[in-house]
Amino acid sequence: MKKYFIANWKMNLLKDQQADLVNHIRSLTFSKDDVSVIVCPSYPNIPAAAEMLKSTAIELGAQDVSWEAEGAMTGEVSAEMLKSFGVEYVVIGHSERRHKMNEDNDMVHKKIATAIASGLTPILCVGETFDQRKQGITDTVLIEQIQTAFAGITLRSHQTCIVAYEPVWVIGTGQAVDPKEAFHSVAVLRETLHDVLHETEANHLDIPILYGGSVHADNVKDFLKDDIKGVLVGGASLKEDEFAAMVKALHD
Ligand code: PGA
Repeated sequence: MKKYFIANWKMNLLKDQQADLVNHIRSLTFSKDDVSVIVCPSYPNIPAAAEMLKSTAIELGAQDVSWEAEGAMTGEVSAEMLKSFGVEYVVIGHSERRHKMNEDNDMVHKKIATAIASGLTPILCVGETFDQRKQGITDTVLIEQIQTAFAGITLRSHQTCIVAYEPVWVIGTGQAVDPKEAFHSVAVLRETLHDVLHETEANHLDIPILYGGSVHADNVKDFLKDDIKGVLVGGASLKEDEFAAMVKALHD
């Protein structure tokens, strides 16, 4: 099955810095059939990235989307606006939005519903905090995040979604989780997707589950096993050498 490399550039890269990075990565050679390489720039940097990546195999994602179609939503960006710049994917429910911007499961659900209805592929992020892990409630947290995100949603055969397991407590620390813990959590997510989506037309097995949280070139291969179909990368994806090495690792 195809692998996914998703670069989440977060609130990094000024216009010229992004141009430098994109200039390097756009010359990477990989087969789109084997690896989907998706970059998620900040909103103002999307048009420039779209322009520079036009004739390449690298695809475009956004870091968030409004659940409303248009109107009085100061500071928000709609799915149609993103699509008009060639965006095909959108990160939803990233832990930084959940924990720093107080986004709850209900808001995440509304964004998932909007993204799917408008033809964007959501990249749903789920994961437990360190406290939740300490309390031994990781599985419960993950199950609830998946159940609420997809509640009442019918995923038809042409619609798809990506799920990223990102333990909140390792994001940006440089130290990823023990892959065994990730494999366990991904099995819980797969089971829950099966329960939630079994009445829709979607085959839950077609939904790729990725790992994210301090992935870099040296540890990426540790996670590309079992049911993990790729990685969502923050910090390391800002470095051209790391970016190239990770894409190569996914390809090999
Ligand atoms: P990181 O971020 O790779 O810098 O840990 C991952 C993410 O937040 O998606």
